[in-house]
Amino acid sequence: MSQYLSNEQLTQIADTYGTPVYVYHAEKITEQYNRLTTAFANADTRFFYACKALTNSNILRHIRSLGCGVDCSSINEVKLALRAGFDPNNVLYTSNGIAFSEIAEAVELGVNVNIDSLSNLEKFGRRYGSSYPVGIRLRPNIMAGGNLKISTGHEKSKFGIPIEQLNGILDLMAQYHIVIKGLHIHTGSEIKDVDVFMKVADIFSELVPHFKDLVFLDMGGGFKVPYREGESGTDMTLLGEKVAAALQQLEAATGRHFQAWFEPGKFLVSESGYFITQVNVLKENAATTFAGVNSGFNHLIRPMFYEAYHRISNISNPQGALKHYTVTGNICETDTFAWDRELNEVREGDLLVFYNAGAYGFEMGSNYNARFRPAQVLVKNGEAQLIRRRDDFEDLLRNEIDVI
Ligand code: LLP
Repeated sequence: MSQYLSNEQLTQIADTYGTPVYVYHAEKITEQYNRLTTAFANADTRFFYACKALTNSNILRHIRSLGCGVDCSSINEVKLALRAGFDPNNVLYTSNGIAFSEIAEAVELGVNVNIDSLSNLEKFGRRYGSSYPVGIRLRPNIMAGGNLKISTGHEKSKFGIPIEQLNGILDLMAQYHIVIKGLHIHTGSEIKDVDVFMKVADIFSELVPHFKDLVFLDMGGGFKVPYREGESGTDMTLLGEKVAAALQQLEAATGRHFQAWFEPGKFLVSESGYFITQVNVLKENAATTFAGVNSGFNHLIRPMFYEAYHRISNISNPQGALKHYTVTGNICETDTFAWDRELNEVREGDLLVFYNAGAYGFEMGSNYNARFRPAQVLVKNGEAQLIRRRDDFEDLLRNEIDVI
């Protein structure tokens, strides 16, 4: 079966479920997971899907069925993962800036926890001592990733315990007998350069002598996926080989065994996702032609928030003459999806598909302008099924309380 959905399949889904609609292809997620396990076959590795990318329970269950774990960024994601049937041992909670009560809740639920501040580590030590082994998230002072907004390891980043505070960590460990079972460093998203991960491995090598109970070394997520035509992503085969070699070297030097953990989000779900919109209006002026679609940054914010590029095609007129369009949304903001993009001639009513929309698409959506959040459809074994209905008017009012 093809790992990509055809224009005919996408058109049929738009006809059946309306637009705008997110479509996910289960087999593509499986293919990406298999790419990971193949690339890392020579290293003792565990993968935890960073579910902030896409939390629909059907996606979680599909990913669980592959044997993958799940990485969560809020206690509610932890609860969604457990509800989707993940064993607590396969759930990892890597949070930042949270109240200690959420860490305590995660401990109650029995999941793996990475702690990201000295303050919470101290509270943790006071409450749990040596009774619950945990991981710690470190900030390595490395600049990496596609752009500053998705770079998390540099010295002005809020994420993790700054590595120069190692003594503070060691003091807390000594004071409260905290058992540190893992070190975590996630430097950003869309990291193409394999050497960034190797720099992280070098930092881990320097740190392991300080931590006698380590089980895992967690390098986070951030593998780059190709968004543009002709672009390539992170070379996973090379990364797998280098990680395996680094682990072997570390084990030879220390006589200890370490497991590498990874938390891929985009890599697993981005390319599985298609966002189908419909052209409401064409507006021509001297400089440009606007193709205004029935969506906006309330549904797909990546182009506006990160200047992210999403490939777009007009699946209703694939043979049409190529022309330039500025693709915009219908909300009261400058919600431009693409400036001067070459597309097959666009007519009102045509379907424009945004590719690589599986990660951080629906998930970062909102009800801004009192617009409905789109429906979500999953294609598995060639069958398309609705996995979340489009909002309706009642959804907009669900939590409101009339007091006047
Ligand atoms: N682990 C941690 C601790 C993270 O903070 C993240 C992403 C991941 C794993 C997964 O990263 P990925 O493999 O998906 O690159 N909304 C942005 C990306 C923000 C990522 C936040 N953290 C975007 O749409 O580009």
